[in-house]
This record gives sequence, structure tokens and C-alpha cells, in this order.
Amino acid sequence: MTNNIYFIANWKMYGSTSSLNSLNKVINLSKLKKYKKAKIIYFPPFTLIHNFINKFKNSKISIGGQNCHVVEDYGSFTGSISSKMLKELGCKYVIIGHSENRIAGETDLDINKKIHSAINKNLKIVFCIGETLNEKRKQITFSVLKRQINKGLKNIKNYKNILIAYEPVWSIGTGVIPNGKELELNIFKIKKIISKKTKKKLPILYGGSVNNKNVKSLKNITGIKGFLIGSASQNSKKFIDIIKKTIN
Ligand code: PGA
Repeated sequence: MTNNIYFIANWKMYGSTSSLNSLNKVINLSKLKKYKKAKIIYFPPFTLIHNFINKFKNSKISIGGQNCHVVEDYGSFTGSISSKMLKELGCKYVIIGHSENRIAGETDLDINKKIHSAINKNLKIVFCIGETLNEKRKQITFSVLKRQINKGLKNIKNYKNILIAYEPVWSIGTGVIPNGKELELNIFKIKKIISKKTKKKLPILYGGSVNNKNVKSLKNITGIKGFLIGSASQNSKKFIDIIKKTIN
């Protein structure tokens, strides 16, 4: 796990069955020895998970769900999907705590329950954290990250399936990325908060406006083990370019 570089493709509420052909190029790349370290994981919308699993079945590319319900098995929750269902479909991962869901009302407590549910179902978790622009301006980034980590990971005993995605909210979908120093400092702080909870070194990824132009500067940031990529991941050419520029 330590040598892997993660490339997480978060397709959000985009994509249709006609998007599947464009993935052939990514499958071909994933088979090249040169890119052995690239751990590529796609998070399509729920409606396409089955198609993606079929598409990637003879490759090393994994699939995850973009969210899950706090209840891990079955229940009367219209419109929701549980960890158990994701696992049964063949997902290996789930994103939990994405800022787009936090903004829509997901609390730290919900996130904690979801993380427990995913651990119980043996899913790997991409746990998203990050400060808003307002919080950054108020210079409370550190306490926000600390709260998100401590509440989100409350009573977690087993850290082996957890990855952290640091995504400053003001960076998501805006084209703006943090400057190198700021990013390095925040990654360092995140590591420090986590080291108080576990001896395990969790992979820390960066997310927010990663593209094939800025990835060269981002990959040199100390402590980053990969990227969570939204819009640029929906274009296979750009996504491949990001992987190639990271691993060369
Ligand atoms: P973006 O999205 O790359 O389009 O900024 C990142 C994310 O929301 O995870």
C-alpha cells in the first residue's frame, strides 16, 4: 500500500452508458508496467456502478460508491444505498464526507456512522476533509480539520482501510489550488492529528481542481500519496495525462 499512488476519479452526478468506451484507454494504461504504482479507482454514480464493474473486471482498476447510508444493511430509506449493497455489487471503496454532502447537511456524526458501516462491511474508505473559504479566512483551518478528523474517526479501532482526502472546499471546482507552502503545512497538520489516533500512516490525497496542467506542481508536495479528481477525471485523455505526469 505504501508505494501506491492513488488516482481517484469522482464522477459525481455525471456520466451515462455512452461514457464507457472512453475508459478503454485508461484500462490499457493501467496494464503497463511503468504505471504499476498507479492505484486507479473510479467512483461512478450509483446507476453506473454495475456497468463499470463489468467494464473493469479484467483489470486492476477498482470501483467505489460516492456515498452510503448511516445504516449498513437494509432499511426503509427511500433513495439510499448501504455499505452492504455497495459491497454486494462488487465495490471495494466508498467516499465518505465529501464537502458537497456536508454542505447538503451531512454532519460529523453521520460521517462517523457511515465510516463505521463501511468498516463493518470491509469497504475501503476515502474520508474527505477540508475547510471552507470562510474558515480559511478566519484562520481556523487547523481546528476545522481537527474536528472533522476526531469526530469522523471517533471510536474507530481499525485504520487499515482508511485513506484521507484533503480537499479545501474553496478549491473544489473553482480552478484555484492552494499554494505549495500552505498545502504542505496543512498535510503536515493532518498527519499530526492522525498520529495522535493511530500509529498507522494513512495515505493522504489531495483533491480540488486537480488537472493535467497543475498536477506537476502538486505531485512535488511532501506527503501527498495521490489525488481525488473530479471534473478532469471525466475526460479520459486528461485523466491519463494526470497519471502520466505524476508517474514519470
Ligand atoms: P474537482 O472536484 O476536481 O472538479 O475540483 C474534486 C472533488 O470534488 O472531489
